[in-house]
Amino acid sequence: MDDTYTHGHHESVLRSHRWRTVENSAAYLLAHLDPGMHVLDVGCGPGTITLDLANRVAPGTVIGVDNSPEIIAVAEQARVAALCDNVGFAIGDTYALDFDDEHFDVVHAHQVMQHLTDPVAALTEIRRVLTPDGLLAIRDQDLSAQAIAPFDARLRRWTELHREVYARNSAEPNAGRYLLNWVRRAGFSDITLSSSTWTFADTETRAWWGTLWADRCLHSSFAEQAVAYGLSDQTELKGLADAWREWSVQPDACIFCVHGEVLARR
Ligand SMILES: C[S@@+](CC[C@H](N)C(=O)[O-])C[C@H]1O[C@@H](n2cnc3c(N)ncnc32)[C@H](O)[C@@H]1O
Repeated sequence: MDDTYTHGHHESVLRSHRWRTVENSAAYLLAHLDPGMHVLDVGCGPGTITLDLANRVAPGTVIGVDNSPEIIAVAEQARVAALCDNVGFAIGDTYALDFDDEHFDVVHAHQVMQHLTDPVAALTEIRRVLTPDGLLAIRDQDLSAQAIAPFDARLRRWTELHREVYARNSAEPNAGRYLLNWVRRAGFSDITLSSSTWTFADTETRAWWGTLWADRCLHSSFAEQAVAYGLSDQTELKGLADAWREWSVQPDACIFCVHGEVLARR
């Protein structure tokens, strides 16, 4: 597949991805993780969730794959720094996984389906590498369900621009609400859909989220694509960045980032 990943791996993007843990991004999976399990983390990015999974299933093993060589090198550095010997990182494509059939007890993917042009094909391939009673765990954002206060027309435009860039990439920013449909079509059974949010609404997390998004509006692949696709320009992007910086210091600012999440059996 010739998919285009909307966000890229600029430092401002990784600032957000590196914050992620099993607890804040895969809590729905926690009760199903046991020592000794073999886990695949698809689209692992910088690998903080992957490393956390490895701690939780040791002496089992975790493999993180991502189709970006650049981010796999970053994840490998994190693995070395964490002295974690039951995890490995490899370049890999979720549409064509380089593993035998029925290989993993759990396949996890966080915020990956939303970026794919054919999530059902990816889920069908993931199903192939799961053991007969293996568990799928996927979580994706639902952009249109996101709530931001106080109201700011520029932040509403930020949401619209996101939708427009994803659409040009034939991807789905509201993936959270479609996970159930996609997982059913890929042939999974025993499906449980739930939802959860990230909430940023205190001085520290507002400053972190607002600043990283201000930087992403100026420097990430999202910004580059928005301009290249003729959807925005540097003046508008600077305005969006300003809006996020202003939001980040308001004492009553809050954001709820809504996600859908699915557990399903092969
Ligand atoms: C939003 S990031 C999520 C990273 C990580 N799962 C996390 O939550 O921190 C999505 C990741 O999926 C990767 N990706 C996109 N398309 C992929 C594909 N076809 N196969 C494997 N990885 C893919 C991107 O390179 C990116 O690192």
